[in-house]
Amino acid sequence: MINYIGVDDHKIDLFEGQYIVEHGMSYNSYVIMDDLICVLDTVDYNFKDEWLANLKKVLNGREPNYLVVHHMEMDHSANIEAFLNTYKNAKVVASIGAFNMMKNLFENDFVSRRIVVKDNDKLELGHHTLTFFTAPLVHWPEVIFSYESSTKSLFSADAFGKFGALDYEDKDGWACEARRYYFGIVSKFGLNVQNVLKKLSNLEIKTIYPLHGPILKENISYYLNKYDIWSKYEPEDKGVTICYTSVYGNTLKAVQLLKEELEKKKEKVALFDLARSDNAEAIEDAFRYDRLVLATTTYNGDIFPFMKTFIATLEEHNYQNRKVALIENGMWAPNANKIMKEKLSNLKNIEIVQSVTIKGALNAVSKSQIKELALLLSR
Ligand code: FEO
Repeated sequence: MINYIGVDDHKIDLFEGQYIVEHGMSYNSYVIMDDLICVLDTVDYNFKDEWLANLKKVLNGREPNYLVVHHMEMDHSANIEAFLNTYKNAKVVASIGAFNMMKNLFENDFVSRRIVVKDNDKLELGHHTLTFFTAPLVHWPEVIFSYESSTKSLFSADAFGKFGALDYEDKDGWACEARRYYFGIVSKFGLNVQNVLKKLSNLEIKTIYPLHGPILKENISYYLNKYDIWSKYEPEDKGVTICYTSVYGNTLKAVQLLKEELEKKKEKVALFDLARSDNAEAIEDAFRYDRLVLATTTYNGDIFPFMKTFIATLEEHNYQNRKVALIENGMWAPNANKIMKEKLSNLKNIEIVQSVTIKGALNAVSKSQIKELALLLSR
């Protein structure tokens, strides 16, 4: 029997110090009740008492034998010491990398109470058996997944997780906030995700138990397929993401015209003012769709700060394999397209399809260039 003992966090403002989580966050933790009892991961430190109470209730007077630590980021590992102090006979099961991190976090790597696991090691609990798989850099180096064979369950650490507390019913379903989570937190390490997907490819998986978001029970191939597409940096859908900055509204007029023209051609368009939007949403859609337009001003001999940060974030997250068009706006020495091109040249397989220059405000020439750009992008 696999029991949920995680918690919902509605007090958090920014997850991992940067991601807006309007509907909170769940920190998932599970217990397998068998001849031997195995707890899977702890939760954020602020929820220590609630989590220990959830655990105590499920244990119903019994004592746990093991705590498996799939991932050492503090939203999951903060209560390892509290657990070991509460249950004096329990052992911790984790990768060697995780134990090294425990030494830093707790000044203790629990030598007398630890079981170090690597690929294909097993933990027998009675009817249930866990098999471990290393998943380095998905998205920290010490991460392991585990597979419980009697129930065909995958414990996937942060993978397949999403933003949002579990008591919030997300009408957009899993993919929207799982995608923002993936491209914000995991996307730099696509190759590592591909490697772990290969390790899982021979397993029959009926249920995925991630460390955030809902337990995934049906149509498992849907979730695996999304992770396959995302980790290969392939576009998921046809569409144009337009990210812009506008100081006095003229660059905005240009991208609005482009949006209208694209929509006339039945293109899906996602438009983001980088100074005012959640940039994690803009990053998500830049990866989701197959074409991207960047529009900004020349500013202090460089590009506008929000665009600079956005392109740096694209690079940090390994953005690649897309068509990109550029629009610059400058009153006397427009230089933004040249700078954006240079920055994008650091990315793999980016095709710059067109560049448009606006000198302050749209005029007949630049309007017609924007219309041409829409035509080119929709071919
Ligand atoms: Fe949910 Fe990487 O911690």
